[in-house]
Amino acid sequence: MKILSKSPTETKNFGKKIAKNPPKVLALKGDLGAGKTTFLKGYAEKLGVKEKILSPTFLILKKFPIEKNYFVHIDCYRIKDSREILGLDFKKMLKKNLIAIEWPERIKDILPKDTLFLNFKIIDKNKREITIK
Ligand SMILES: Nc1ncnc2c1ncn2[C@@H]1O[C@H](COP(=O)(O)OP(=O)(O)OP(=O)(O)O)[C@@H](O)[C@H]1O
Ligand SMILES: [Mg+2]
Repeated sequence: MKILSKSPTETKNFGKKIAKNPPKVLALKGDLGAGKTTFLKGYAEKLGVKEKILSPTFLILKKFPIEKNYFVHIDCYRIKDSREILGLDFKKMLKKNLIAIEWPERIKDILPKDTLFLNFKIIDKNKREITIK
C-alpha cells in the first residue's frame, strides 16, 4: 500500500491512523528528513504519549509511558552494530512494549519477523510517498 502525503500534518495524521492498530515493532526507513519522526509525532500522540517526540539526536533510545507499557522510540542512525541495541535489553523490551525504530536497516539481523516496515520517500519539498510493507 502506498500513500502520498502533501504536508507534515498529513504525515502525522497517517501516524495516528496506524496507531489505531499498532504493530509491536514498527520500522521506519527513508532518507534524512523524509518524515519518519514527523510520522511518529502523530503515532505517539495517538498511543497516549504526553511528551513531545523529538529527533533523538544524541539519544539512541527513549521510553515513554503509555497505558500499560511503554512506547519506545529508537533511532539507529548512529548505530554500527546491532549488539549496541541488544545491549539495551532489546529482547526483553520486545515482550511487552510498542517499539518504533528509525534507520532499522542498521539492526535488521535482530528485528522480529512480524515487524511492520514503512518506507518514506521524498518527492519534493512538501510531498512524501509512504509505502507499507
Ligand atoms: N509531507 C511531509 N511529511 C513529513 N515531513 C514533511 C512533509 N513535507 C515537509 N516535511 C518536512 O520534512 C522534515 C521531516 O523531518 P523528520 O525529522 O520527520 O525526518 P526524519 O525522516 O525523521 O529524518 P532523520 O533521518 O534525520 O531522523 C520536516 O522538516 C518536515 O517539516
Ligand atoms: Mg528522525
